[in-house]
Amino acid sequence: MPAPARSLEVAGASVRVFDSAPDACRAAADLVAEAIRSAVRERGRAVLGLATGSTPIPVYARLAELHRAGELSFADVDTYNLDEYYPIAPTDPKGFRAFMHRHLFAHVDLAANRAHLLDGTVPEHAVDEHAAQYDRWIAADGGLDLQLLGIGRNGHIGFNEPSDLPVDRALALPTRPVDLHPATVADAVKDFGAEALVPRRAITVGIAPILAARSIVVLAFGPHKADAVARSLLGPVTAGVPGSLLRHADGPVTWLLDETAARDLDA
Ligand code: F6R
Repeated sequence: MPAPARSLEVAGASVRVFDSAPDACRAAADLVAEAIRSAVRERGRAVLGLATGSTPIPVYARLAELHRAGELSFADVDTYNLDEYYPIAPTDPKGFRAFMHRHLFAHVDLAANRAHLLDGTVPEHAVDEHAAQYDRWIAADGGLDLQLLGIGRNGHIGFNEPSDLPVDRALALPTRPVDLHPATVADAVKDFGAEALVPRRAITVGIAPILAARSIVVLAFGPHKADAVARSLLGPVTAGVPGSLLRHADGPVTWLLDETAARDLDA
């Protein structure tokens, strides 16, 4: 595992700052691989919560490499993805199902029926129930061993966007359909080609099931994430910065950062 340039404890979280994002991603892949191996050893299976976005792509590349090298099997793994645009066509390459196939599922021995994703094609009248059922599936599988997260520039985790909810209500948010924040829509323009083409809604795993994971690994790289990281770790716990709600996680939270994303932690 690449060694961090420095490690700090901030607000109960372990923060590891790496010289480069690729080093941090290698460390993240090692944490995921270790979570798989120890859960399979102890319970015969591992349950992972996975994120999309540009940040974790090298993590998936490294996991695929470990698999190719014969060092890691997904044969006893279930995965639950964090979110999906809504609505989105089943064959849309910008959907998160296609993303996961491209970056991980096509390259490892994960059974097709153990890769769970929120479905951006369920009819409108069935979305609430689909989301609620997703939480029941996670619970029935014994809960998440590890939740991998990125963080939005606006502090969102999954597509749990900033809001003015009281903290206790934010902490209880289940998996559900949501409206995307303007900053999230703006960030998605690079994938969809034009603002008008970006879906305005999504389905996201809620704050409550994220916090219930037995461990959480958050990745953030680049100066555009520095403010969200600092507000999550040093600012008040508030639904206005969903990343700050991670301070109420049930299990350990590890932040893997590069120097630019960690820059405001020393201020
Ligand atoms: C993705 C997700 C989002 C992203 C966040 C950062 O499944 O839930 O919260 O993690 O928007 O995205 P990137 O990595 O593209 O900067």
